[in-house]
Formats: sequence, C-alpha cells, structure tokens
Amino acid sequence: MAHNVAELFDLTSKVALVTGAGSGLGRAFSEGLASVGARVVCADRDRGRADETAAAINGKRNDALSLHADVADPQSVEAMAEQVAQSCGRIDVLVNNAGIATMPLRIHEMPVEDWDRLMAINLRGVFLCSRAMIPLMLASGGGSIINIASIIGLVGHYPGFAANGANYAAAKAGTIGFTRQLAAEYAKDNIRANAIAPVGMAARGSRKSAKPKRRPRKSRASKKPFCEARRWAGADSPRNWKASQSIWRATPRVT
Ligand SMILES: NC(=O)c1ccc[n+]([C@@H]2O[C@H](COP(=O)([O-])OP(=O)(O)OC[C@H]3O[C@@H](n4cnc5c(N)ncnc54)[C@H](O)[C@@H]3O)[C@@H](O)[C@H]2O)c1
Repeated sequence: MAHNVAELFDLTSKVALVTGAGSGLGRAFSEGLASVGARVVCADRDRGRADETAAAINGKRNDALSLHADVADPQSVEAMAEQVAQSCGRIDVLVNNAGIATMPLRIHEMPVEDWDRLMAINLRGVFLCSRAMIPLMLASGGGSIINIASIIGLVGHYPGFAANGANYAAAKAGTIGFTRQLAAEYAKDNIRANAIAPVGMAARGSRKSAKPKRRPRKSRASKKPFCEARRWAGADSPRNWKASQSIWRATPRVT
C-alpha cells in the first residue's frame, strides 16, 4: 500500500525532547525532528550548546526550547521534566541520546571511576530520563522513546574499532535490554520504545566531525544528512503505534 511519506512522518503539534542535543547526533536529531514539524526541546549539560541547537532550529521556525540538564543527576532530570510539563504541557517523543566515551582502556587497566561515570550517563541516564518523562506520556495517551545505543552494544568487536571500552559496550548492551523491557512494559499504554545502534557517525556539529581522519565516501545517503532522524521521527505515527522493541542498525556515514 502506498504511503504519503510526509504524512507518515508528520510530527506537527508533537513535542520532542532530545538529550545531549548540543552536539553531534543530538543536534542532527533535533533538527530532523523540527524539520518534520515537532516542537523540539533541546537539553544538554552544556547549556550554551543546547542554546545553539535551538537557535539553529529557530532560524527557520520559532518554537524550539533549550534547557540545561545533566542526565546522570536525578534532580536535574526531574527539573527538566517539570520544565517540559510547564512549557509544553506534554511530551510525545523522547530521544535518549546523551552519551560519553572514556579513554579506550582494556578492562584490567580501566579506572573504576571511568566505569561509574560512563554508566551514570550512558545507562542510568536513559533510565532516569525515561522514568521522569513516562508520566507525561501516560497523561497524554502515549509516546515514543528512542534510545541511542551503539553497534558496540550488539557485537564485541567492529572492524576499524579497537576492541576496548568494556564500560561503553556494557552500557549500550544494557540500553538495548532496557529498551526491550520498556517496550514490553508500556505497550498497553501506547508508549513505543526503540533503540538505534549507530556505528562511526560524525554528524554536523559533532566534536568528532571537526577533524575527519579520511575523506567521506560519497553516497546517496550522505547527500541527505539527516534522513535517519526523519525515519525514526515517524515512530510517533499512529499507524505504527505499537511497541516494537526493534533495534535499528544505522549505517556508517560521515556528514
Ligand atoms: N557518533 C558515533 O559514531 C556514535 C556511534 C554509536 C553510538 N553513538 C551514541 O550516540 C550518542 C551521541 O553521540 P555523539 O557522537 O553525537 O556525541 P557528542 O560527544 O558529539 O555529543 C554528546 C552530547 O551529549 C552531551 N552530554 C554528555 N554528557 C551529558 C550529560 N550527563 N547530560 C546531558 N548531556 C550530556 C554533550 O554535552 C554533547 O553535547 C551517544 O549516546 C553515543 O554513545 C554515537
């Protein structure tokens, strides 16, 4: 059956919150969601960079918000949820994107602090933000939670990447398990949960894209930098309104 793509992915009158929106993929996701009509709340622990993302969106339309939030801090996350409730009254899409990597060290060399810091942001942050935003979704009849995992959460080694960073792998695998559980728990409440597992992506505005190591291969996809954001933005479409627990493997791409 033919679908009108614009209609399927239309997020007009929807509110989307993106964590880690100040840079990289978070900025790309924010712009992608705004481009299909969502009112985007850009959250980052670096308020200045969140402001920049919101300003980039507001250059074209004028409804993006920015706020400071540290996803590892329960009080900060609760304050974020309160601000979203007050300013927008609802939340339809939550993108748990904020994440870090620590020094790529082998397990026997890894400081315990590196394990704890990464887990607090990359895994506990996903729990804290979901926990804080789900009540708003329940109140408005549903929503979509999109967790940014990684290929490293699915495989122990990916060609071109050093096989170290067990804290990152564990947190991303945990995010995938968390996503499956979330989808199963909240399917009856019309809250969908999906994870995306990117690999080696440097989006516009990313610190990683500042000095590309090699020239990006030209491809059709690279001419449309933010098509992923559009694709999963449609996760909110009523036509797809069921829990899917899907894990999307995003293809490598430099934009
Ligand atoms: N870029 C890739 O190749 C790639 C591959 C696989 C997975 N990912 C995942 O995608 C997500 C985004 O990665 P990126 O490459 O765009 O990173 P990035 O470093 O460019 O951006 C991360 C953003 O998150 C923010 N942030 C960090 N800690 C935070 C906290 N505690 N609270 C709120 N904001 C915080 C930073 O300020 C920054 O703006 C991460 O979860 C990462 O693990 C990225």
